[in-house]
Amino acid sequence: MKRSSSTASDMSGSPQKLSLKRELGLVSAVSLIAGTMIGSGIFMSPQTVLFNIGSPGASLVIWATCGILAMLGSLCYAELGTVITESGGEYIYIMRTSGQLMGFICVFTSILVVRPASIAGIALSFAEYTVAPFYQDCPPPPLVVKCAAASGIIGLAIVNSLNVRFSMSIQVFFLVAKVLALAVIVIGGVLLLVGGHTENFENSFEGTKVGISPIGVAFYQGLWSYDGWNNLNYVIEELKHPEVNLPRAVMIAIPMVTVLYLLVNVSYLAAMTPRELMSSSAVAVTWGNKVLGSWGWLMSLAAALSAFGSLNGTFFSGGRVCFVAAREGHMPDILAMAHVHRLTPSPALIFTTAISLVVLIPGDFQSIVNFFSFTAWFFYGITLSGLLYLKIRKPELPRPYKVPIVIPILVLIAAVFLVLAPIIDDPQIEYLYVTLFIISGVFIYIPFIHFKLCPGALDKITVFLQLFLEVAPAEKNL
Ligand code: ARG
Repeated sequence: MKRSSSTASDMSGSPQKLSLKRELGLVSAVSLIAGTMIGSGIFMSPQTVLFNIGSPGASLVIWATCGILAMLGSLCYAELGTVITESGGEYIYIMRTSGQLMGFICVFTSILVVRPASIAGIALSFAEYTVAPFYQDCPPPPLVVKCAAASGIIGLAIVNSLNVRFSMSIQVFFLVAKVLALAVIVIGGVLLLVGGHTENFENSFEGTKVGISPIGVAFYQGLWSYDGWNNLNYVIEELKHPEVNLPRAVMIAIPMVTVLYLLVNVSYLAAMTPRELMSSSAVAVTWGNKVLGSWGWLMSLAAALSAFGSLNGTFFSGGRVCFVAAREGHMPDILAMAHVHRLTPSPALIFTTAISLVVLIPGDFQSIVNFFSFTAWFFYGITLSGLLYLKIRKPELPRPYKVPIVIPILVLIAAVFLVLAPIIDDPQIEYLYVTLFIISGVFIYIPFIHFKLCPGALDKITVFLQLFLEVAPAEKNL
C-alpha cells in the first residue's frame, strides 16, 4: 500500500488517505493460489476420501474431479475478477450482482465462520505434524496440539501485520518447499511402481460406495485440499495487470496442483494397502516411515511447513476480505484501516486472528473441513449465479477474459449438488446450525446496516483503537 499523491484536502490539514499498492506479480500470484491450495489436505484427507468412497480407483476419480472442478471454478472467477476489479472475492461479486443484503450475509458468514474455520483447520494440521515427532508411540495430547496451532496462528498474524513483502516471500519460499516435498513423494511412488508394487491397483474399483452422501463427503474432503483456488480474487487490487495475471496465474497454478495431488495419491497407494492408508492418522508420516525409513521424519516436517504456508496465504487474503467489507460499511470502520507506516491492514488481521482462536478451541479437523466445504460451496454457488446473471443481462460490460457460459453452468450444478447431497441423504443437525447462522445475518443487516440504528456507537472505540494501533482509513485502488 502507498500514500496517494497529495490533494487539496491534504493542504487543508485533513488526514491523507492510504491506498493499496499493486505489489503482486505473476510469481506472487501463482504462489498465492498454489501455496494456499497445497496445505493440510493432501497430508490429512486421502484416507478420509478413500474411507468414504470405498475403493482406490474411485478415490483417484474423486481427486481428479475435484481438480477439474477447481479449474473450472477458477476460470469463472477469472472472468469475474476482470469484470469487477475490486478486491474481496465472492463478497464483492455477490454484492455487485445480488445486492447489499446478500453481500452482507456472505461476508458476515465468511468473516465469522468460513475464514476462521479454515485458519483453525489448517493450523490444527500444522500442529499435528509439528508435534508428531515428539510423540512417536502415542497420540499427542489435544491441549499440546491446540497450543501449537494457536502459536502458528499468532506468529503468522504478527508477520502479516508487519510487512506485505515479507509475508509474500514466506508464501513463495514455502510453496517451493512443499512442491519439493510432494515431488519426493511422487518420485518415491514411481520407484515403487517400477519395482512392481502395483497390487493395490488391481480390481481398483472393488468396494466402491455409490450413495449420495459418501460421494458428497468424499468431495468435501477432496475439495478442501483444492480450496484456495479463488484466493487471488481476494486481493485483485494489489495485483499488477490483473487482466493478464489473474487468468495466467490460475492456468499455471491449478493444473500443477491437480497433477501433483493425483501422483501423490498414487504414490500413497503404491506404498500402503488401502486398509493401512485408512487407518493412518497422518498419512505422510506413515508413507515416510515405510519408504524413507529413518528419514521418515522429513515428511512430518514437510507437512508442517506446507500447512504453515497455506495458513499464511489464508491470512493474507482473509485479512483483505474483512478490510474490504469494512470499507463498504458492512463491518466496523476500524477494520478498513491500514497501518500508517507499515501499510498493512493490521486491525482486520488482528480481528481475524481473534475469531480463529475462538473457533480453534472446540474445533476438530474433520468436522471443520465438512462444515467449511458446505458453507463455502453455498457461496460459490451464489457467486456463479451472479456470473451467469452478468453474462446474460450485461453482455456489454468490458471483459478482458471470457469463459464459455457452459462452464459456470456446470460448476453451479456441482455446487448445488455439493450443498444438497449431504443434507438430503444423511441430514445432520450441524448443517442446520450453519444454515441458521447464515440466515441470522439478515437480523443484523436490517437494523444496523440498512436502518443505521445506533450511528456512531463505535466512534469512541474507533478513535481509541486508531491511535493505539496507528492506523488510518485506506481507499480503493482500482
Ligand atoms: N487447501 C488448503 C489445505 O489443504 C485449505 C485452504 C483453505 N481455504 C482457504 N481459502 N484458505 O489445507
